[in-house]
Order: sequence, then structure tokens, then C-alpha cells
Amino acid sequence: MSTKSYEYARLDAFPELADQANSLIEAAFAYQKNFKFSVDFAPLAGAQHNQQRHILIDPTNSTVVAHVGTRLKSFVWQGETIPVVMLGGIAVAESERGQGLFQLLFERVLSTLHSQCALFILWSDKHELYRKWHFHLAGKQWCYRTTTAEKAHSVERLIDLAPAEREKLAVLYRQQVNQHFFSPLRDESDWNDLAEITSAELIRMKAGYVFRGKGMDLQGVLHDFAHVNGVNGVTEELGNAGVLWAAKNEMVPDEVLQDLQQVGLWRPNTHPMALRKLSLLLGMEINYRDDRFVVERQGVSIKMDAEELMDEIFNYGKHGLRSDGVPVYVGGLDSI
Ligand SMILES: CC(C)(COP(=O)(O)OP(=O)(O)OC[C@H]1O[C@@H](n2cnc3c(N)ncnc32)[C@H](O)[C@@H]1OP(=O)(O)O)[C@@H](O)C(=O)NCCC(=O)NCCS
Repeated sequence: MSTKSYEYARLDAFPELADQANSLIEAAFAYQKNFKFSVDFAPLAGAQHNQQRHILIDPTNSTVVAHVGTRLKSFVWQGETIPVVMLGGIAVAESERGQGLFQLLFERVLSTLHSQCALFILWSDKHELYRKWHFHLAGKQWCYRTTTAEKAHSVERLIDLAPAEREKLAVLYRQQVNQHFFSPLRDESDWNDLAEITSAELIRMKAGYVFRGKGMDLQGVLHDFAHVNGVNGVTEELGNAGVLWAAKNEMVPDEVLQDLQQVGLWRPNTHPMALRKLSLLLGMEINYRDDRFVVERQGVSIKMDAEELMDEIFNYGKHGLRSDGVPVYVGGLDSI
């Protein structure tokens, strides 16, 4: 641990440091010059969201040395809401790494927000790093790619759509996503935030929509879609317009290739509200005793750690507590 002292703050207390925080993240993730974190991740980086951004400041020179961004979202599952905190933009200035700053800030953020959510989710390839804080890769997501040629389509930006046109997308999202999958709710202000991601291309189809790319992130990926005919509707209307990420394993023709990947790193929380919400997802009552999640089945107590619980909820866990995993959908526009 560093002997230097750093000041913890939320960015709303120091809005003048927002550009510095963004530059720190862009450097940490090797952003290319023509891309901007504040655009690709507008729902996190917009000035109105500074209270969601946690920083460490070196008081000797008023420099931001670490950043953790958060988004508290209501997810919906079978008509019930489940609060989830997404974590992103996690970065420490290169010169300050290896002294425990990430750990200091990350633990502060987790302890501040844990009582407000049932689950945390983040996206990272550093699985071992996050394991220490009980984050585990879980949730199924299928990738589809058709071998048929790309069909003609026009490309727009969500921000340019008239309110009535945007509402049509919102209706499709509610009907095709929220009604079928454990997924974030989106109200009007959420759609306004998503529209600020001007680096994502919107492709509207006869019976659906899809977003492609998100600046430097998700290049060539169709990552956020709703279509009345699901994956087949998109591939039929667009042909090979990119890899399509979907929450559902659908019957597809032979020319459509299919792969499985996992959604993100999840951490379940253990307080009473979290246990109630996690019980809704599992479809069984969950308790927490002696550092284990516990469910009773036919008079037998089944004890699980966080990873095993996530597997039971989202995948096919070894105890088979759900006959199928909860289908989960976090569109690429929402992820941070
Ligand atoms: C990853 C990053 C945030 C770590 O910051 P840091 O301040 O150097 O980390 P800390 O010193 O607090 O390390 C905390 C623990 O994580 C471990 N750790 C740090 N970086 C790690 C990495 N890249 N992979 C695995 N473990 C790592 C440390 O060994 C330490 O473990 P210990 O307590 O068992 O010794 C920083 O390297 C960074 O900004 N990287 C570029 C951006 C990035 O990858 N962000 C995170 C992914 S979303």
C-alpha cells in the first residue's frame, strides 16, 4: 500500500476534473485518437452523471489518479424489478499502479453501493483480478454471423430521430427484450442518454432495429437489437452486417453460424433485499448463513459460494436448481 495519501471524491464535487478523468481512462484503455470515452460511454460520462463517478485525487497536484464509474439500473424479470449496479471505466494512472489504489477505490465503491443493488456486473478480461471480490463470469449470450452477403440498408443515429420514432424503438425494446429477458428497463431519460452515444450506428428494419459498433468499442458488432422475428428477422433483413449478439439460442438456418459466450462478471450481494431479489431469479428462497448462500431442497440444505449461485441462476449449475438459466440481455448501449 502506498504511503502517499489520496483524497476520495465523487466527480460531482469536482466537475472541472471530468476531462482529466476521461483522459485517464482513454490512456488506460489505449484509446485511438479519433475515439472518445465521453461519447462511447455517454450514459456514464455525461455531466449529469458525475455523481456516479468515483475518483482518487493526488492532493499535491490536484490530479485524478484513479476512476471507477457506476450505473445503478433497474432490471426487470417477469414483472419484478431487480436493482443492478454496472461498473466501468475502471482505471488507475500508469505511474501510480501497483500501490493498491485500485483496491482502495474499488472496495470503497462496492461498500457504498452494495446495499442498493442485488448484483454488480462489470465487463473485463481480468477474471482473476475480480475473483478476489467474488465476481464471476456468467450468463449466456449467443453470437450469430450469417454467411449471406450484406444487404442494402441505411445507417442513422438515434439522436437524429424524432421523439415519435424513438418511442417506436422503446416499444419494441419493451416488447421484445424486457418481456422475455432479465434486462435493464429504459425510460425516456435513459433513451436520451443512449442517444448521446453518437458513435453507435442505428439500423432500422421493417420489423426491428439494431445498433452496430460503439466507437472504439464493439466495432463490427450488432450489439443491441429488438426485432419481432428475433435473430432470424435481423439476419434475413440485413444479411451479413456484422456479428449479432443475442440473449437467446434460436433455431437458425445452416448458413447462420452460432457461438456461445458469456455476458459479464457478476457479483451477488448478501443483504436481505439482495437475497429476496436473487430468490426471484433462482425461483427458490435463498438465505445466507456462515458465508454461504443456502437453499433448501427436499429437506436438504444446498450451500453455495457466489460463483455456484451465479451458475445456478444464469447457466446450468451442478445442482440443477433451475431447469434452464435465466435468459439475460444487456444491450451494448447499456454496458459500461
Ligand atoms: C487493473 C488496474 C486498475 C489495477 O490498478 P492497481 O492500482 O495497479 O491495482 P492494485 O495495486 O490496487 O492491485 C490490487 C490487486 O489486484 C492485483 N492486480 C493488479 N492488476 C492486475 C491485473 N492486471 N491482473 C490481475 N491482477 C491484478 C494486484 O496484484 C493486487 O492483488 P494483491 O492484493 O493480491 O496483491 C490498472 O492496472 C489499470 O488501470 N489497468 C488498465 C485499465 C484496466 O485494465 N482496467 C481494469 C479492467 S476493466
